[in-house]
Amino acid sequence: MCGIVGYVGRRPGKPIILDGLRRLEYRGYDSAGLTLLEAGGLETVRAVGNLDALFAAVGDGASPATVGLGHTRWATHGSVRVENAHPHADCTGRISVVLNGIIENYKELRAALTARGHRLTSETDAEVVVHLVEEHAGEGLAAAVRAAIPRLEGHFAFCAVSADEPDLVVGTRREAPLVVGVGEDEMFFASAIPAFLSHTREVIVLEDGDVVTLRASGAECTDVAGVSVERAVSVVPWDQDAAEKAGYDTFMLKEINEQPAALRDTLAGRLSEAGDVDLAETGMGDEMLRRLRRIFIVACGTSYHAGLIVSYAIEQLARVPVQIDVASEFRYREPVFDPDTLVIGITQSGETADTLAAMRLARAAGSPVLALCNIMGSQATREADHVLFTRAGLEIGVAATKTHTAQVAALLLLALRLAWARGVQPEAELRRLGHELRAVPEKLEELLARPSAVEEIAARYRDERFFLYLGRGMGFAVCLEGALKLKEISYIPTEAYAAGEMKHGPIALLDKESPVVVVADDSPVFPKLVSNVEEVRARGADVIAVATDGNETIRELSRDVLWVPRTDHHLAPILTVVPLQLLAYHIATLKGYNVDQPRNLAKTVTVE
Ligand code: F6R
Repeated sequence: MCGIVGYVGRRPGKPIILDGLRRLEYRGYDSAGLTLLEAGGLETVRAVGNLDALFAAVGDGASPATVGLGHTRWATHGSVRVENAHPHADCTGRISVVLNGIIENYKELRAALTARGHRLTSETDAEVVVHLVEEHAGEGLAAAVRAAIPRLEGHFAFCAVSADEPDLVVGTRREAPLVVGVGEDEMFFASAIPAFLSHTREVIVLEDGDVVTLRASGAECTDVAGVSVERAVSVVPWDQDAAEKAGYDTFMLKEINEQPAALRDTLAGRLSEAGDVDLAETGMGDEMLRRLRRIFIVACGTSYHAGLIVSYAIEQLARVPVQIDVASEFRYREPVFDPDTLVIGITQSGETADTLAAMRLARAAGSPVLALCNIMGSQATREADHVLFTRAGLEIGVAATKTHTAQVAALLLLALRLAWARGVQPEAELRRLGHELRAVPEKLEELLARPSAVEEIAARYRDERFFLYLGRGMGFAVCLEGALKLKEISYIPTEAYAAGEMKHGPIALLDKESPVVVVADDSPVFPKLVSNVEEVRARGADVIAVATDGNETIRELSRDVLWVPRTDHHLAPILTVVPLQLLAYHIATLKGYNVDQPRNLAKTVTVE
């Protein structure tokens, strides 16, 4: 989950690396560091806190160094203190390493290295790597990195520089991201493309086990045995604007407003004007879809909520049983697999350790695996039999917004195609739904543009101690997502409950102080939800409803209503979640919190 940057070129590296770290800060922000290859040797600066602390520690002074490494950390092994920040140095102080990932056998390696006379100064797993590299330093940096790799267990990407070879940076990856940027007389390593997007759009996506030496003149790639391998250069379609705030105060607000475009892009070429769905790109033909007897959906966090939302639609429309689980539970509960069970791993980053592990487990047991992913070339897309991309573009805000609604849209396409292939719904009805889905981006655009009470509601309830969210069916899944958004960026405790279950316990929480957010879409269970809202009102709690335009019943029962345009109830979650994103956003900003980088969180969770 950390962010790595490496630079070698003809320009001073310091501002380039620091700027790259800024763009990767979403990956981790508890400490950071920088190594530059100065004339006198390696100069390393590390600081605890977000990047501002590093910027203050390095100061404004210019450095002529044209080679260096940077790192922004999300602590896993070792507390947040300066000794545990990267880069780490070897005993001689001539080699420096930054790492993203986990070295699982670091305790044994640490003991062995200490016994051999190495002096380790941090509590991290990463530090063992630089000492292993040091043991082969005489063979050259690339050879030393290759010698270290087989001794490491776990998943990682790391980069190394050496004062003895001041014109190069070496990097490698195993099941953790590392990409190369190809510039004009300069080369970059980074955990993610935005780090160098202002310098180049030419990218080399590395494979597991690649060991790459970057010089200003280009890249040389070998496998772990030292045999040369060729890696293609591709051009990414994003430009720098994608990684900037484009006039918004925060990435989160920008990304909330980008949802119509993300949806349009995700549906493009897959949903015809007539409402027909084409997912041939996934390689899952109708024959395969007809054969399926069950679907498992595995994911974490917001991606799990997208899966839960659409699990209702898949069962209702395609009549295939769906089981859904959070990946960290699924992987250890010994699920029963078979070749007619499709396992869908949903992960916007394609890097989430638990989701990847669950997908691997399923594949090894013979079930076909579909990855629903937002990042091309990510680990999930390499490890799946089939891939369906959301095309939400880069998401930098730690709280997922546009990738979530794009996931729901992509999964709805799958639900429609499955239903079509299995012949379980009238074709006209599926076309009608497809047609409706095509109209959702425009409805969302209209929703985002209309005046809304959301800021006023946020101001009224910003100091509440607790929020309860209630819904039924897909609306309940939307509540889980809305409650997660509020708790993760405003730090207000929330609970999301299936409305019918409320009287079995959580109703005890209600009093006149408690705002209750109700997601009231137009599903067939709406009348049941109305009874639950009455129960809430009877306890004096304020009801804030999200409801479809013109729903008079809800207007009468609620203190406030956040209106959304009308659509088919299977598609409504794409609209009803948006006022909840905005409610969380406004409460958190009124409280003065950094919504793009909530405390303790990281955008990609590459540890279990
Ligand atoms: C919450 C959020 C997280 C992620 C989760 C899975 O706003 O973003 O809950 O959804 O960490 O991440 P991916 O989708 O990258 O696997």
